Parts: sequence; structure tokens; C-alpha cells
Amino acid sequence: MAPPVSCFLFVVLFSASCKVITSSDEMCTVKEANKTYNCENLGLRGIPDTLPNTTEFLEFGFNFLPTIQVTTFSRLIDLIFLDLTRCQINWVHEDTFQSHHQLNTIVLTGNPLIFMAETSLNGPKSLKHLFLIQTGLSNLQFIPVHNLEKLESLYLGSNHISSIKLPENFPTQNLKVLDFQNNAIHYLSSKAISSLGQATNLSLNFNGNDIKYIEPGAFHSRVFQSLKFGGTFNLSVVFKGLQNSTTQSLWLGTYEDTDDQDLTPAIFEGLCAMSVESINLQKHHFADLSSTTFRCFTQLQELDLTGTHLKELPSGIEGMNSLKKLVLNVNSFEQLCQINAASFPSLTDLYIKGNLRKLDLGVGCLEKLENLQRLDLSHSDIQASDCCNLPLKHLSHLQYLNLSYNMPIGLQAQAFKECPKLELLDLAFTHLHVNAPQSPFQNLSYLKALNLSHCLLNTSNQHLLEGLLDLRLLNLQGNRFQDGSISKTNLLQTVGSLEILILSSCELFSIDQQAFHSLGKMRYIDLSHNNLTGDSISALSHLKGVYLNLAANSLGIISPHLLPILSQQSTINLSQNPLDCTCSNFYFITWYKENLQKLEGLEETVCANPPSLRGVPLSEVKLSCGMTAMGIFFLVVFLLLFAILLILSVKFLLRWKYQHI
Ligand SMILES: *[C@@H]1O[C@H](CO)[C@@H](O)[C@H](O)[C@H]1NC(C)=O
Ligand SMILES: *[C@@H]1O[C@H](CO)[C@@H](O)[C@H](O)[C@H]1NC(C)=O
Ligand SMILES: *[C@@H]1O[C@H](CO)[C@@H](O)[C@H](O)[C@H]1NC(C)=O
Ligand SMILES: *[C@@H]1O[C@H](CO)[C@@H](O)[C@H](O)[C@H]1NC(C)=O
Ligand SMILES: *[C@@H]1O[C@H](CO)[C@@H](O)[C@H](O)[C@H]1NC(C)=O
Ligand SMILES: *[C@@H]1O[C@H](CO)[C@@H](O)[C@H](O)[C@H]1NC(C)=O
Ligand SMILES: *[C@@H]1O[C@H](CO)[C@@H](O)[C@H](O)[C@H]1NC(C)=O
Ligand SMILES: *[C@@H]1O[C@H](CO)[C@@H](O)[C@H](O)[C@H]1NC(C)=O
Ligand SMILES: *[C@@H]1O[C@H](CO)[C@@H](O)[C@H](O)[C@H]1NC(C)=O
Ligand SMILES: *[C@@H]1O[C@H](CO)[C@@H](O)[C@H](O)[C@H]1NC(C)=O
Ligand SMILES: *[C@@H]1O[C@H](CO)[C@@H](O)[C@H](O)[C@H]1NC(C)=O
Repeated sequence: MAPPVSCFLFVVLFSASCKVITSSDEMCTVKEANKTYNCENLGLRGIPDTLPNTTEFLEFGFNFLPTIQVTTFSRLIDLIFLDLTRCQINWVHEDTFQSHHQLNTIVLTGNPLIFMAETSLNGPKSLKHLFLIQTGLSNLQFIPVHNLEKLESLYLGSNHISSIKLPENFPTQNLKVLDFQNNAIHYLSSKAISSLGQATNLSLNFNGNDIKYIEPGAFHSRVFQSLKFGGTFNLSVVFKGLQNSTTQSLWLGTYEDTDDQDLTPAIFEGLCAMSVESINLQKHHFADLSSTTFRCFTQLQELDLTGTHLKELPSGIEGMNSLKKLVLNVNSFEQLCQINAASFPSLTDLYIKGNLRKLDLGVGCLEKLENLQRLDLSHSDIQASDCCNLPLKHLSHLQYLNLSYNMPIGLQAQAFKECPKLELLDLAFTHLHVNAPQSPFQNLSYLKALNLSHCLLNTSNQHLLEGLLDLRLLNLQGNRFQDGSISKTNLLQTVGSLEILILSSCELFSIDQQAFHSLGKMRYIDLSHNNLTGDSISALSHLKGVYLNLAANSLGIISPHLLPILSQQSTINLSQNPLDCTCSNFYFITWYKENLQKLEGLEETVCANPPSLRGVPLSEVKLSCGMTAMGIFFLVVFLLLFAILLILSVKFLLRWKYQHI
């Protein structure tokens, strides 16, 4: 550990020359002393001597190790995780990891492997995760199988594998993840699938393989956690292969650049012959979309139809009582009623975000969804002059509503009366017109988080937040206050339970001393990116232990009477302020240097004045604000004059006194 110590001394003595030393003597970075190190991309040809024997987690990617062998890592017998990404490894010799009994993860991604010795993975008896992505592999027989009894995940993506037939004695009993994405697997036979042996609850990934044929029933009576066949041209092939199988989730999406067949009702007949809980069909096109398309979807609990070019969902879909979560993002609905929500009466989660057309909310389109808890309508060009009681009719269990990034929305008094259980309401970046003097949020007594950032609110309305009895988080970022000032009476007076308040980028110039007096539970205040001066700090005098962000304001001189207020907070960010580093700010700078442990962003907390100190971190400033020689000279002259004056006046007084005796 000598080099870092000497380096530290050098930093203190000659901060410029230290950089040269570290760059010629490549240093691994310490993430956790004696345990976790990162030596990536240092042009290393071996393990540096500076790395302690006790290293457990080592990121060693992007170095140069054409062969690895028994001596390469022999010193680091405590290794648990070893990442050797792109080290140009060609040869992995006998017994390379012989004494690494605790090794759990080996990453060999991006190495052009030519040879792996039969005994190369002997030793790590508890190896759980092996990454052989982009290693030029074409045959699974290449992988040494000894000692892999504990293997849980094997990543084989982006190789040239055409057959998934595992070596005969491959231990599969603990296997949970087998990832074959982007290989050249075009055919799957029953025999190949049966080589998966005892593996059950497996996650098997065949995305990007252009599968042309699966032997019908090849997966029968097997149980999977997830199966991915993304980018397969003919989905009938997949469903035939999956007959009589069980899987928790089935990913059948496609990609922009992939050719694929339109999905017909006939294709989905195959779904009736297998058991599946969750299915993803993203980016496909449907042909002849009708209620029969969904005949075999009745067992589903989750359905993801993101980007499937839908203008509506057909009416008359029956039996989908199990569906809990429906994702309809990035489609082209014009009216919310076009999703025919009544077909999915048990929904708890509905996502319609990023709709490609202007979405009209209509009236009561979701009223049959009595169990709905989460509704995401963000980024959907929604415009509504009178939101939200009619569109949200009967959604009495709704807890989460996201209406962010929409067109202007008008809110009347009690605009969310229909969903009294709301806990989180996100209206960020949606321009709000509040049409009533009362609060649109009245009766939301369970609401915990309200995001009103960039809503162009009229913050003069003191009743705006009335009725939010349990509000913990309020985000008002990017809204303006009248005259750039938060006055003594303001809209925050009604939300006394607030713990987190965000008022950044509100163009604030001042905050009244009493403005926050009703907020006693506060523990996080973000006032960054405003134009506040030191005086506004007195608004926080009654608060203790708060995280306070005052970055990017107009703080120049902070007067001594404000320092106790800062002292009683837990963490303070004063970066990017035009701080004054002259003697007029002496007390603040002294306080700053005594309280460095409370402050964050020290590097960016720099002087703006005087010009000679501009850009110097406040923590490095040394002020000497004693008397100057000139000052002492004037003081002496002044005292001298004063003494002469005193003597003269005493003399005068005495003479006057004697004259009157
Ligand atoms: C790291 O190891 C050295 C030498 O064994 C020891 O002195 C030091 O206390 C250890 N540091 C930590 C954080 O464990
Ligand atoms: C590290 O391990 C090597 C080889 O096992 C040994 O020679 C060396 O003394 C060890 N170093 C320390 C500091 O224990
Ligand atoms: C299947 O695996 C998933 C995660 O991979 C796990 O959450 C689940 O409990 C497992 N199920 C069984 C029956 O082992
Ligand atoms: C699926 O199971 C059914 C009933 O158990 C059986 O009749 C049928 O042959 C099986 N199909 C395949 C392809 O295994
Ligand atoms: C898709 O696969 C099915 C079953 O293997 C086959 O009957 C059908 O002809 C295929 N469709 C196309 C367009 O290749
Ligand atoms: C609401 O949606 C926006 C955009 O999709 C997203 O960024 C934001 O995190 C969501 N809000 C919450 C609370 O999840
Ligand atoms: C809603 O709030 C208003 C005003 O606070 C109150 O008068 C009314 O009783 C509340 N209604 C319900 C159903 O809680
Ligand atoms: C609104 O605030 C919530 C809570 O902090 C946050 O989760 C969400 O991402 C924010 N929304 C947007 C659009 O940033
Ligand atoms: C903002 O609200 C105040 C008080 O509720 C009202 O007097 C004022 O006209 C409103 N300003 C705008 C621009 O609507
Ligand atoms: C207010 O602060 C912003 C950045 O926080 C700055 O761009 C702007 O010039 C300031 N305005 C005035 C009048 O100081
Ligand atoms: C201080 O606040 C600024 C503005 O919010 C932020 O960019 C910066 O990351 C903060 N500093 C730290 C150390 O968190």
C-alpha cells in the first residue's frame, strides 16, 4: 500500500506532479478495502502486486491476458467474483482456478476462446454463474462440465451455437438460467430439449435465433419460469412446440428490423394447449383482430400489447376474468372507451402510456374496473377541460394515477372525488388549469405523494392543497410564485404533514421568515436553481436535521446570525453559488471549514469574489482578516488625537472651574 500513501503526500505537497506518477504506475481503484477492486482498462498483463491477497471481487476487464493458467490468479484464493471481459483470452489452461474454492462467478464475455482445458474449471466447487457471451463458441461440447454441479446460470449469447444439446453428463439439477440469445439455433428437437434433464423452473432465452421449426410437443410436461422466443417469424411453430408445457411468462415480442407474420386468430389456438400466466407480444401486427383472437387468452394474468398498432380492442372478448395486468402502451387509441375495458373486470394494473394519438378520456370508460389500483396515462396527449371525475368514475380502489406529460387539463373542485384512495398522483409537465377557488385535491386524505412539477400552476391560490391530510412528498419544481417570493401566507400552510418538499427552479428571489412555519415534519428541502440570497435561510429556523439543497442560488454573503440555522441541519448543498471569500464573509467561511462533514458538493462550492480567488474551493480558502499595517497606523493616530483632545478639554474644564470659584 506504499504507492497510495506516497501519492497522498505528493498531493499535499505538489498536487500537480502526482497525476504523472499515478498514470505511469497504473492503479486499480479500491471499492472496498481488501475486498473489492476495479482494474479495468489499464493495459495490464497480469495481476498487479499491489492487489491484496484477500481480494474477493475483481473487475479485470479490458486488459491483456492471452493465456490464463494455474499461476495467473494463484495468489487470490479468496476470489468470489471475477470479471475478465475482453482480455483477449485464447487459452484457459489446466487447473487455472484450482485453489479458488469460493469462486461463484466467472465472466469470460468477449474473449476469443480457442481452448478450455477439461480441468480448467476444477476447483470452484460452488461456481454458480458462468458468462461465455461472445466467445466464438459453436459447440456446447467445448464447455468443461466437471465440477459444475452448483451451476445456476449459463450465458451463451451472441455465439455461433446451432444445437442446444448439452453434453451428456452436464449437471442440470440447479440450472435456473440458460441464455442462448442471438445464436444460430433454427431447429429444436425433443431430444435436444430432453438434454435439459432435471432442470425445472428454468428461464430459457432463444431471442434473436430465427427459429424455423420445433418438434411438436418438444417441451411437453416441462415447467419453466420464463421462455423467450423474441423475433420468431412464425409463432405457430412455437405454440406447436410448447404443447402441454407450463410456463410462468412467455416473451414472444418482435423487433423493428425483424420480418414477421401478422398474428391471426388461428395462430393463438396453440395457446389453449399450454399453460401460461403472462405473455408479451410487443410490436407485432394483428390480422383479423376480433374477440376470437383472444379465445385462448382466458388463463392469462398479464398481457403486454405494447406497440402492437392497435386502434381498438374488439368488444365481446369473453372469459378474461383472470387478467390482472394489461399493458397497452404505444398504440393508437383515439378514445379510452376503445379498449373495451369491461372485458377485463379483474384488472388491477392498466398502462396506456405513450399513446400515438390524442387520447380522449371519455366518460366512465373504465367504470367496470372496480379493482383497478394502478393507472398510467402518461405521455398520451390527453386534453380535458374538466378532469377527472367523469373519466375515473367508480375507480374507488385506485391508488396510483399517472397523468404526467399530457396536454392542458382543467381541474374543478374535488376533481378526484371518484378515487378517494389515491396515494400517488403524478401530474408533472401537464399544464393545469384550476377552475375553482377550492382545492381540486380535496378528499384525497390518503394521498402521500403529489408531483406538480412544471404544471404552470397559479401558486397564489392558498386553498390549492387543502384536504391533503397525509401528504408526505410535494414536488413543485418549475412553478412560479408571485413576485418571485413565497410570502407569509401561502399554499403550503395546509400541508403540515409534508416531509419532502421540492421547490427547485421556481425563479424564487426570497422566502418570508414565516413561510414554512406550519411545516414541522420536514426532512428534505430542495431549493436549488433559484435566485435566493442568504436572508431566505431564516425561513428554516424552526427546522432541524433537514437535508437542505441550496445549490445554484445567489448566495454571496451569509451573515453570522444565520449560521446556527445551518448548523442544526444534517446535510447542506451550497454548490454553484456566487460565494464571497473576502473578510466580509469571515464568519461564514470559518463556519464552513468547521462543518465540512455536513456539506456536500465541496468541489463545486467555490469563491466568486474577490477575482483573485475566483473558482477556488471554499474549503481551501485561508483568510487572514486581522489588522493591516495601515489600519494600525490610523488607529494609533486616532488614539493620539483623542488623547490630546481629552487633555485639552480637561484643562479647559479645570480653568473654567477655577475662574468661577
Ligand atoms: C486491510 O488489510 C490490512 C492488512 O492485512 C489491514 O491492516 C487493514 O486493517 C485491512 N483493512 C480493512 C478495511 O479491513
Ligand atoms: C500472498 O500470497 C502469496 C502466495 O500465496 C504469498 O507468497 C504472500 O506472502 C502473500 N502475501 C501476503 C501479504 O500475505
Ligand atoms: C421459480 O423461479 C422463480 C425465479 O426464478 C422463483 O421466484 C420461484 O419461486 C421459483 N418457483 C419454484 C416453484 O421453484
Ligand atoms: C398433451 O396432453 C394430452 C392429454 O394429457 C395428450 O392427449 C396429448 O397427446 C399431449 N400432446 C403432446 C404433444 O404431448
Ligand atoms: C407456420 O407454421 C405452421 C406450423 O408449423 C405451418 O402450418 C404454416 O404453414 C407456417 N406458416 C408460414 C407462413 O410459414
Ligand atoms: C409517470 O410517468 C412518467 C413518464 O412515463 C415517468 O417518468 C414517471 O416516473 C411516472 N411517475 C411515477 C410516480 O411512477
Ligand atoms: C370532502 O371534503 C369536503 C371539504 O373538506 C368535506 O366537506 C366533505 O365532507 C368531504 N367528503 C367526503 C366524502 O369525505
Ligand atoms: C414525480 O414525482 C415522483 C415522486 O418523487 C417520481 O417518482 C416521479 O418520477 C415524478 N414524475 C416525473 C414525470 O418525473
Ligand atoms: C391566481 O389566483 C389568485 C387567487 O386565487 C387570483 O387572484 C389570480 O387572478 C390568479 N391569477 C391567474 C393568472 O389566474
Ligand atoms: C436567477 O437564477 C438563474 C439560475 O438559477 C439565472 O439564470 C438567472 O440569471 C437569475 N436571475 C437573476 C435576475 O438573477
Ligand atoms: C448539489 O446540488 C446540485 C443541484 O441540485 C446537484 O447537481 C449536485 O449533484 C449536488 N451535489 C451533491 C454532492 O449531491
